[in-house]
Amino acid sequence: MKLKTIKVTFVAVAALFGYSNNASAQTQLRADNIDEVIKEMTLEEKCHLVLGCGMHFNDDTKFPGTAGSSYAIPRLGIPSIYCADSQQGLRMSASRAWDHRDYYPTDFVASMTLAATWDREVAFAVGQGIGNEVKEFGLDWILAPSMNLIRNVLCGRNHEYYSEDPYLSGTIAAGYVNGVQSEGTAACPKHFVANNQETNRNNNVSRISQRALRELYLKAFEICVKESNPWTIMTSYNKLNGPYTVEDYDLLTTIVRNEWGWKGMFVSDWNAGKDAVLAMKAGNEMLQPGQDKQYQAILDAVKSGKLSLDILNKNVKRILELVVRSHNFKGYNYSNEPNLKAHAKTVREVGADGIVLLKNSSVLPLTGKNVALFGNTSYDIISGGSGFGGTSVGHYTVSLVEGMRNAGFNVNKQLLNKYKRHIDEGYKKLNPNGKPAFSITPPARPEELSLTAEDLAQAVAATDVAIITLGRKSGEAADRPKAEFYLTDGEKAMIKAVSEAYHKAGKKVVALLDICSPIDVASWQNQVDGLVCTWQGGQEMGDAVADVLSGKVNPSGKLPMTFQINYGDAYADKNFPAEVSKDMLGSMFMWGYGQKEMKPREPQKDIDFTNYEEDIYVGYRYFDSFGKPVAYPFGYGLSYTTFAYNDLKVTQKNDSYEVSVTIKNTGDKAGRNVVELYVAAPNSKKANKPAKELRNYTKTKLLQPGESQTVSMTVKTSDLASFNEQKSSWITDAGNYRFLICSSSADVEASQSVKVKAWKQRVHNVLKPQTKLNLLHR
Ligand code: BGC
Repeated sequence: MKLKTIKVTFVAVAALFGYSNNASAQTQLRADNIDEVIKEMTLEEKCHLVLGCGMHFNDDTKFPGTAGSSYAIPRLGIPSIYCADSQQGLRMSASRAWDHRDYYPTDFVASMTLAATWDREVAFAVGQGIGNEVKEFGLDWILAPSMNLIRNVLCGRNHEYYSEDPYLSGTIAAGYVNGVQSEGTAACPKHFVANNQETNRNNNVSRISQRALRELYLKAFEICVKESNPWTIMTSYNKLNGPYTVEDYDLLTTIVRNEWGWKGMFVSDWNAGKDAVLAMKAGNEMLQPGQDKQYQAILDAVKSGKLSLDILNKNVKRILELVVRSHNFKGYNYSNEPNLKAHAKTVREVGADGIVLLKNSSVLPLTGKNVALFGNTSYDIISGGSGFGGTSVGHYTVSLVEGMRNAGFNVNKQLLNKYKRHIDEGYKKLNPNGKPAFSITPPARPEELSLTAEDLAQAVAATDVAIITLGRKSGEAADRPKAEFYLTDGEKAMIKAVSEAYHKAGKKVVALLDICSPIDVASWQNQVDGLVCTWQGGQEMGDAVADVLSGKVNPSGKLPMTFQINYGDAYADKNFPAEVSKDMLGSMFMWGYGQKEMKPREPQKDIDFTNYEEDIYVGYRYFDSFGKPVAYPFGYGLSYTTFAYNDLKVTQKNDSYEVSVTIKNTGDKAGRNVVELYVAAPNSKKANKPAKELRNYTKTKLLQPGESQTVSMTVKTSDLASFNEQKSSWITDAGNYRFLICSSSADVEASQSVKVKAWKQRVHNVLKPQTKLNLLHR
């Protein structure tokens, strides 16, 4: 009794003098005493802090199913901060042991859907929704946005990436990061940099010219860094022109910190790189998920003088700077109840905004109410990719059938029943032990149902229109085989049979592309009347698609990448692992997660190294500059209305150009229009520059028929620069540049020639390829 009284009295006195109970004299971390705290840390604590604490796969961790956390040092008031993959939504288990509640975050849209909106505000809204859910579920930091360039249509992670163009990728990523961070949640653009294939992703060397690096691969990140100041950046698995990106001082420190002035924290991809000490020296502050041998190596290196304590302290400081910004450090009282309803509404709107109308021979919006849905994917919709950045553990996905019914359509029941049986049986055969809950690579899907003459006759008689859905799913850790670009025999037979039967009866056919990356459309699209690229729209996908098909939403999406005619048409296809055998892939599957070390052998093209011989000619920069035909160009997309472009004006203001143009809705339906601004450099061919490059874009408000809006965009003289390797400089040559207002990279709507003054900026001569590359030249 007496003892208790004494204790109470001490606490009361301590409180009076502002001491906390557990730390009478111990320094506690605050935003303004980081250096002081570092002085109090032991060497061992510092070595722990620069490493993660393992992945939270187990059910008994605080946030089961999430990617990791940072090391806590309670005696110094340093809490753990928690991170999760969240490209399309917070990736976390939906249930927890000893807990009756559900933890379902929203399944937002796949990255391509977002990029196809060409709308920075929409990217902000999605980022904000995700950032808010991360905060309300108690975490601090998301491992997104993934923003590698789409260099090749078969890359396994294309569903996580935005575009083939660095400006579109960088600005959409910046919108997303700004949204995430507006909630006080840290974002993490990744995978820095040139991680453009999954095959042998932990060992492959991307060999790239300094110019292509600067103008394309680094550029996307540079734009994102400058427009959104992400608090963290994730380095990638691959090597770049020699070293691992994780261990490359010139990449991380010389370029990102010294040239771009970025002050955030680098975190490695999970188990990336080989040498933890080199990573520390390069400025890669945190290595995740952390390995014992990394701890030992860093500790030993400091003790032996191989790693200076100053460097370790600098790295620790950046980590603590992140910690003090975190929700957990601030003691945020999270609700576990984000506004899922509001976020679902955003998903539906964004899902529809990103849909791209490719072809419309008077079939859309649909007029009849009776529809026949063909193709397995019509009943087994793909709302996102697989892997850590794919679709999450959402508790529902609005199916296409549901979406169409919600919009007032009657879905043919005979077909529905037949497809349902076929798909259920198909999955049973593929997974006799039940469907796996999570798969990093795309799970196998049943083969296309073969339709009988009776199926078709019944459907044609009972419905007004046929809707065929084709689906492709990509996933992490494996690139897709070339065959995935083309249609299967089953798909071809279905399109032919359905189109012939419907056309014979004077009825029309619409094809939907539920895809993660472009596929062949050129060889078969003349058989259908409408072609709609729905991409992968998250949990509300069925409703979003129905909104566009019914005309409730007028499509305004534009392609964020080129649809090539054949695989092999893009110059980059010459150097990509399109035909790697499955055995080979198996042995290369993610070291650290069980990948076998590869036996020493002669380095193989596209597996051990990939020569980016296309140089700067990626995507439309190639097709457009070399006059190669495409199925659909970058930036393409139709509307249910039409637009006119008038009064283009370009006004110079100091070092920038203000471009304005008036857009008029000349059709009979309300709609929004993306306005694309490209600039063509003088003598581009002689100067070995792309014929034109995207330099800005904007989107009109919803314009009523007959309504006009004047939109404006800015371009700086420095934005027009190319990278000159001989001079290690960004150079804008003086001359007459053509400012082009376009409705796609191949459709110029208005243009003006503008006299531009020279501009130059010298940068560091770093990241040189170590082998001579046979680069494409105009
Ligand atoms: C992926 C990253 C991801 C990390 C943590 C890696 O396999 O490449 O994108 O953030 O795992 O889950």
